[in-house]
Amino acid sequence: MADKAIEVLLDERRSFPPPKGFKKSAHVRNASVFNTARKNPQAFWAKAAKELHWFKPWKKVLEWNSPWAKWFVGGKLNASYNCLDRHVNSGRKNKAAIIWEGEPGDGRVLTYRDVWREVNKFANVLKKLGVKKGDRVCLYMGMIPELVIAMHACNRIGAPHSVVFGGFSAESLRDRINDAQAKVLVTADGGYRRGTTVPLKKNADEALADAPSIENVVVVKRVGAESGAQMKDGRDHWWEDLMADAALWCEPEKMDSEDMLYILYTSGTTGKPKGIVHTTGGYLTGVTLANKWIFDMKEDDIFWCAADIGWVTGHTHIVYGPMANGVTQVMYEGTPDWPDRGRLWRIVEKYGVTIFHTAPTAIRTFMRWGTEYPGEHNLKSLRLLGTVGEPINPEAWVWYHKYIGGGRCPVMDTWWQTETGHPLITPLPGLTKLKPGSATMPFPGIEADVVDEKGQSVPKGGGGYLVLTKPWPAMMRTIYGDPDRFVQTYWSRFPGKYFTGDGCKRDKDGYYWLLGRVDDVMNVAGHRISTMEVESALVDHSSVAEAAVIGKAHEIKGQAICAFVSLKMGIDGSAALVDELKAHVAKKIGPIARPDEILYAAELPKTRSGKIMRRLLRDIADGRAMGDTTTLADPAVVAKLKEQYEEE
Ligand code: WTA
Repeated sequence: MADKAIEVLLDERRSFPPPKGFKKSAHVRNASVFNTARKNPQAFWAKAAKELHWFKPWKKVLEWNSPWAKWFVGGKLNASYNCLDRHVNSGRKNKAAIIWEGEPGDGRVLTYRDVWREVNKFANVLKKLGVKKGDRVCLYMGMIPELVIAMHACNRIGAPHSVVFGGFSAESLRDRINDAQAKVLVTADGGYRRGTTVPLKKNADEALADAPSIENVVVVKRVGAESGAQMKDGRDHWWEDLMADAALWCEPEKMDSEDMLYILYTSGTTGKPKGIVHTTGGYLTGVTLANKWIFDMKEDDIFWCAADIGWVTGHTHIVYGPMANGVTQVMYEGTPDWPDRGRLWRIVEKYGVTIFHTAPTAIRTFMRWGTEYPGEHNLKSLRLLGTVGEPINPEAWVWYHKYIGGGRCPVMDTWWQTETGHPLITPLPGLTKLKPGSATMPFPGIEADVVDEKGQSVPKGGGGYLVLTKPWPAMMRTIYGDPDRFVQTYWSRFPGKYFTGDGCKRDKDGYYWLLGRVDDVMNVAGHRISTMEVESALVDHSSVAEAAVIGKAHEIKGQAICAFVSLKMGIDGSAALVDELKAHVAKKIGPIARPDEILYAAELPKTRSGKIMRRLLRDIADGRAMGDTTTLADPAVVAKLKEQYEEE
């Protein structure tokens, strides 16, 4: 975040106590819960775990050999059983689980029993394709119910899923398949997005040219002939053909609490994405409780998390949390501006959505579009709002509260990460006095701290690095296939503490104000993208000698990708080449990583030991006075770059 934005943030004085209605009826009404959890965290989490169905009870709540955690040791359970069978067997079988709307305007409503039936059938399909407990299954799909069904089918048979966001390129998909050594790929012929179609199967074919672990591909027919999808004999199968004669019952696998539930890749500070590993008992316990308490989920709520399931938010707030709680949810396939900018509010009105969750970048976009779009719809059904993914500026918070929430809905600013499993710094709607721009305080049972360079706790009023000091059930267990990197990335900077990579300030009331990443990870429109990944994609182009990438403050997206590129000898930096380089990055990683700006630089500023000084590039891009340049090998390089940048 730019310095100015931080100053504005920390000057925020407005506060919003819980509305009266919430105080009376919320799941959590008594602040003593924080003390109870602090005094005996194991008893607190064990009580939460008991809400789930266990085939076999655990023997021990926690085994903690820092940084290795085992929760609910010896317990056996199944995630799909908890998200489906439990409801089907207890009076919710006819309740709508998913109210789905396709972008072109088609729709389907699936009851809990419908989802349960399809999950059982698809679990049997996977078994027939040779998938066994422990085998990885890769899912590369758009936002259609079959994605949810496939995820639960995987966990029903104990096969960890690895969902790859449908906006990722063929190469990104290939790398993720290969890292996980997935056996089966489930995809769709295509998906609808902003009035056009995304060629999912075509991308998958390109990825599979170099992903030998995949033995079978299952393809959902979503788009039809228009997709131009080709099927390869023996390897590719249509979903509907396999489902036609699949048996209706599949015995849920009795999974050990610590058996892997899924892998989800996220960007780190190196070019190679990390496969974050979550396990069954701890993750499910954490997400069930966090969803229930933070969103105050009740029997007749209509919950809508408008995130993509390709990211952790969709895993936790669509597939696992709401379904474990047995609520009805809305799921939408497309973009907010198709066919017009009123789409989301039309959906809220049509289905009577009561809880709505989105990202600050989306809220800032809605702000720019203007109040007439929400204004044209009756949004009175809403009673609670959520935001996640990046720091929210107070103006966007207040706008969201006023124009979407009608001034009556508490706004839950939830801080968390793929690694943490569920929100850890977050308000509780019936208890917390909200301050716009602050994610407020740690969830019960979570111990956080703000520390300085040396790992010393910074007193209230000061800023530093956000760390987590005690284990919690839904914490990641390792990086798939790379335990050393897990220890190195998260547990080495401050021994014994989990390092989040986020900067944070605590005010005098103990409220946490997240200030953005302190490492080489950008947050572009709520998506985590590593500077190194974009740099590798750039230097992969035949004209590029060297590249340095930074996140530049951006009004809507939070950060925009800005690249400084030096070209190989004899190559001229033309405008056409800028476009070509942007397209190259989009092709290598996916459209979300397309640089917003590319600037040619004869040389990049480096320290005497040869490290690129990104801090200076950030200063140049944000138009700030430059920091200390004394360690630079050639200070003239920066001066020249700055001059050039200001001219552009
Ligand atoms: C950022 C998304 C401020 C943060 C759930 C974190 C936030 C990264 C917030 C994780 C928030 C997420 N306020 N920053 N409410 N929520 N972040 O893994 O920098 O995609 O480290 O998980 O997003 O991104 P990830």
